[in-house]
Amino acid sequence: MNKDHLTLTDTAKLFINDKEFDLPTTVGSEDEVGIDISQLRNKTGAITFDSGYGNTGSCQSSITFIDGEKGILRYRGYPIEELAEKSNFIDVSFLLIFGHLPNKAELERFHFQLTHHSLIHEDMKKFFEGFPPTAHPMGILSAMVSSLSAFYPEAGYDADVELNIVRLLAKLKTIAAFSYKKSIGQPYVYPRNDLSYSADMLNMMFAVPSEPYEVPKVVEEALDLLLILHADHEQNCSTSTVRMVGSSEANLFASISSGICALWGPLHGGANQQVIQMLEKIKNDGGDYKKYINLAKDRESKFKLMGFGHRVYKNFDPRAKILKGSADRVLSEIGVKDPLLDIAKNLEEIALKDEFFIERKLYPNVDFYSGIIYRAMGIPTNMFTVMFALGRLPGWIAQWKEMRETPGARIYRPRQIYTGETKRSFVPLEKR
Ligand code: CMC
Repeated sequence: MNKDHLTLTDTAKLFINDKEFDLPTTVGSEDEVGIDISQLRNKTGAITFDSGYGNTGSCQSSITFIDGEKGILRYRGYPIEELAEKSNFIDVSFLLIFGHLPNKAELERFHFQLTHHSLIHEDMKKFFEGFPPTAHPMGILSAMVSSLSAFYPEAGYDADVELNIVRLLAKLKTIAAFSYKKSIGQPYVYPRNDLSYSADMLNMMFAVPSEPYEVPKVVEEALDLLLILHADHEQNCSTSTVRMVGSSEANLFASISSGICALWGPLHGGANQQVIQMLEKIKNDGGDYKKYINLAKDRESKFKLMGFGHRVYKNFDPRAKILKGSADRVLSEIGVKDPLLDIAKNLEEIALKDEFFIERKLYPNVDFYSGIIYRAMGIPTNMFTVMFALGRLPGWIAQWKEMRETPGARIYRPRQIYTGETKRSFVPLEKR
């Protein structure tokens, strides 16, 4: 919050024409101030107008805190930098979903559950066979997650909620890996209980029956880091979609499936795929990155620097900072020299000094460097957003669970300002 912003107030005053209305305020644990407009329409007949919801708090949440001005991201109070350095994805998933870091017994039980629920029903394999080889794995992922509700129809918020949460976490990586194997026409590799979550995912993607395969430690650690960094990001497009769908009391699998679809878009999780395609285009065009900076600045061109800009971060994205540091290390440990990394660094350096980007507070976001690391790990471009979904899953689940546990939670139902025709009479076909 900038120093001119509100700090603590009990009431906000709203003047409409000559009438004055009092609106209560609500203050979060990090002093974020919200003006409670829940009674606004009842009291005044007016609604607020906030296209893109940039100023609208849709819920109270105790899961993730972001201060976009200061570049702060915390899960349940723990800074992302500490979690990235000291934790692992299973630890972080438990933290997000259940609200505290697991003790040894809890972690062992969670790990046991996640390995022992990772098989998918054999009948689900037939679904994969129905997709064309060109199918985007995000489409398959979403369809498969939604299909889980056919196998576990009791996935509402009931006695089995924890079991279904575990099932989903355990099975998503199997589904994701199978969708990749399907796309390259290789036999599916079944999950292994002796491997970590990240190593199992990589093994299912890269092992083949014809030769032994061991997941390189550096690749396993890189994936774990990427999953941690993507694990939650408060009320973004996909998470709000999960909450929106879940608010109708749709089951867990249906709600998460809708989040996967929302994530797919190029302005959201799909940006990691777009970044690599953009960098490849620049490379194939002779590596003239300055030309593309100019193109991004040209309002007529509609070209955007993918992996740049963020609705919330206005200084830097702490996840991008961590990933930039790890990109060099991971590439050198894997032994990959990627010219796209040099292009990315050059683009960043120029953009950060350019008035257009400074004025609009446009900085590299998490997707700017993640794709380069995924590439070095051997993950194909069309699987990048699937990896993002895998990482974001515990966040979606935590947000869905929090919403279902909130007393008095209501179905999401925004209003609109209608700008269409006013009442007119129907015109018969012969007179049109
Ligand atoms: N390249 C060039 N110009 C940009 C870019 C960009 N990447 N991003 C924003 N702008 C300009 C935009 O044209 C606008 O300029 P003007 O004021 O002259 O009209 C100004 O900056 C403000 O942008 P905005 O579109 O109003 O910002 P937003 O908050 O609605 O959108 C965003 C945020 C992330 C969708 C947008 O910055 C963008 O499209 N970035 C590229 C896609 C991307 O990298 N998405 C991944 C986001 S991080 C992963 C995730 O959590 O989803």
